[in-house]
This record gives sequence, structure tokens and C-alpha cells, in this order.
Amino acid sequence: AAITTSIGIHDIAFATGSYRIDLAELAARHGVEANKYYIGLGQSEMSVLANDEDVVTMAATAAQRILDRGDSRPIRTLIFATETGIDQSKAAGVYVHRLLGLGSDVRVVEVKQACYSATAALQFATALVARSPEEAVLVVASDVARYEIDSNAEATQGAGAVAMLVTADPAILEIEPVSGLFTEDVMDFWRPNHRSTAVVDGKLSIDAYINATTGAWADLASRGGPAFESIERFCYHQPFTRMAVKAHRKLAASVAELGNDEADVQLDGTFDYNRRIGNSYTASIYLALAALLDTDDDLAGKRLGFLSYGSGAVSEFFTGIVSAGYREHVRADENRALLDGRTPIGDEQYLALQRFTPADVSNYETTRETPGRFRFGGVDGDKRVYEVV
Ligand code: HMG
Repeated sequence: AAITTSIGIHDIAFATGSYRIDLAELAARHGVEANKYYIGLGQSEMSVLANDEDVVTMAATAAQRILDRGDSRPIRTLIFATETGIDQSKAAGVYVHRLLGLGSDVRVVEVKQACYSATAALQFATALVARSPEEAVLVVASDVARYEIDSNAEATQGAGAVAMLVTADPAILEIEPVSGLFTEDVMDFWRPNHRSTAVVDGKLSIDAYINATTGAWADLASRGGPAFESIERFCYHQPFTRMAVKAHRKLAASVAELGNDEADVQLDGTFDYNRRIGNSYTASIYLALAALLDTDDDLAGKRLGFLSYGSGAVSEFFTGIVSAGYREHVRADENRALLDGRTPIGDEQYLALQRFTPADVSNYETTRETPGRFRFGGVDGDKRVYEVV
């Protein structure tokens, strides 16, 4: 095979739940001002799944958008990144593989490390493409963020999936080879097997995130990574958009002596989707990239920085160069229509959907709600049922 040095994201598309709730609805129940969420967290609304949607249907919907566009290189690997696992053994990606109609000559695997694992998947994909540049790897990140009802963390829920096609000579972003890594065993956020909602120490998680940001940057710098000043924009994992601001201000002050206003400019354009979708865990940082590509038409040839964080905790700082001609490959209008097309729901309907989690029941059918092509039909004899509508 030909030797290739340019490997990265050739296509990127996302999907989310078909409902949305304005955070003012939540604020009213919590007895706080809506501005605590709108300004304090930097979140305006969050996506909510219909009862016949889950991580598999979202992932399939996002990936289908990529397949519909088409590429001549065969997909030989599908890596599914999630922390909303639906089975302790079978990879959720195998269901997606069938829903998409992929051939039997594809390897499928699921990876996990909180919100970080999509970045691991992306890096593994670049290595596979380096070995076999004529092949493509489909990376899908899909998650539903769930916390206890009435907890402080409830306003930082959300749901979303991002699919990315990783190839040689990518049309969107070439990923550069030097990465900064940081791993530390910390109990800031986790979800034991018996729980459907996460356990979180909110304040500790914010400190752990910031610590992992500066730690990963220090590793990148020590390995000869690009200079801070050469990076045009930064995409962060966004559990809520203000988290990115907090972490980046700290980093920019310590490594480049930038003030807050100067630091904030480096995040411009990366918040629009996460602000409206909420935390989508593994998908969040790549929703930041999608938002940036859709809003900034002057990125060709520019370097982007990426800070991926997953509680527990693993972080990675890496960089990429935006491809010439990327504008022809973005889906700005389609993406905005997708978000605008979600059905607004009030607190009562949201609560009813949150309580619909019969995880301990081996047989149930979901009601038909999703307007999407793929639906989760329920569980039959402990088997999850997925349908193409
Ligand atoms: P809280 O403790 O209720 O909020 O929950 P708070 O009191 O800290 O207020 C939040 C901000 O709103 C503050 O701003 C207030 O001042 C401000 P700050 O001081 O931080 O700049 N505020 C207002 N602003 C304007 N007008 C008002 C007003 N009132 C207050 N009227 C917390 C916040 C994030 C702790 C909670 O939502 C939580 O626990 N969320 C989940 C954990 C989380 O998202 N952590 C982020 C880092 S960890 C991570 O990113 C990993 C993760 O994605 C999981 C994974 O890796 O898998 C979570």
C-alpha cells in the first residue's frame, strides 16, 4: 500500500433526540433563575430521547448521513464509543452495522472511558488507516447523559451521536501525529453497573477536568507539539459550554499569558450545538468541531486544538489542520434544520420520559414516537429489538 502522511476526518455528521426541553422549564422546578443555566452553565436547552430512541438509533442516524453522501473507500472497521452501554457483552456497534446494511467483512468493536473514548477511537482509526490507506474507518460516538432528577447535575443532561469517517487525504481535518496524554485515577464521575444515572462530585469534576487539561497540554508541549500561538481555535469537551471557557482561560493564562477576552476568542463558534443539545458525553467535543466548521468559513489551512476529557480520568490534547475545500463538505443548513426540527416538550412530558427506564424487565414494547428512520422497538426475551421504519 502507498505510504500516506495525511490522515484524519473525511466526513462528520451528527444526530440527537427528537425532543428538546428549554432549561427555563427545569429552572422553574428547581426554584432557580433560568440565567443560572443560560449564563452560569452556558446552556439553553437539552435534547431528550423519545422512548423508542437510544444510543443505537442515534448512532445509526448519524452514520447513515455519512453513508448517504458516499465514498469509494470500503469501511472495514466500525468503532462505537459510548458510556451508555446497552449490553455488558455485545457491542452496540453490531446493531448499527446491521441497521446500516454494512457487509460481513467489517470488524466492529465498542470502546469505553467516559467522555474520552471517541478520541481514543479516532486515534486507533488513524493507525488502521496508516496501515491500510485504501480502507476507511467509521467512528461513532453516541451517548445519553442522565443524572438524578432534581439533582444539581440534572441541567447538564443531553443526548447526541457523532459519526466520523476516517480516511487518508481527508476532506475536513488532517490529524497531526503528536498527542498530549494525561491519566489519573480520580472518582469525579462514574456509573456503577446497577445504575442508569451517573454518580458525580460536581466540584471535584470541574477541578479534575481543569487539571487534566493542563496536564495533557504539558505532555503535548514536552513532545514537541505545536506552539500554543499557532492554534487558531480550540474545541473542548463541553459537559456544559462554560466548562470549556473555565478550562481554556486557565490554560491560556498559564501557557501564553492571555487575558480572558483573548482566550475566549479562541473558542468562538464551538458552542452553538452543545448549548442546544446538552452533554452528549463522547460526542460532545466533535459537536464542538461540527459547530465550528458550520459557522467559520475561513478555517482552511488553519490549525485547531482539541481537548478531550473523560472523567475517571483520561484526557488528550491533539491538533489538526483544516483541509482546503472543507466548506464544500460541511452540512450547516442540514444541521441547523435538524436542531430546529426537534419537538419542544414541557417538564411534565420530560419527567415521564425520564422515568421510562424498565431496565430490569425482559419484555416490553415501546410506543411509536420517533420520526426517524431507525427505532428501538423494546425488549423481547432479553433481546433488544431495532427496526428500520
Ligand atoms: P451547581 O453547583 O448547582 O451550580 O451545579 P453552581 O452553583 O456552581 O452555579 C453554576 C454557575 O452558575 C456558577 O458560575 C454560578 O455563579 C452561576 P461559576 O461561579 O462557576 O462561574 N450562576 C448564575 N449565573 C447567572 N445568573 C444567575 C446565576 N446563578 C448561579 N442567576 C455543576 C453545577 C456543574 C456542579 C452541576 O451541574 C454538575 O454536577 N454537573 C455534572 C458534572 C459536570 O458536568 N462536570 C463537568 C466536568 S467533568 C466532565 O466534563 C465529564 C463528564 O462529561 C462525564 C464524562 O466524562 O463521562 C461530566
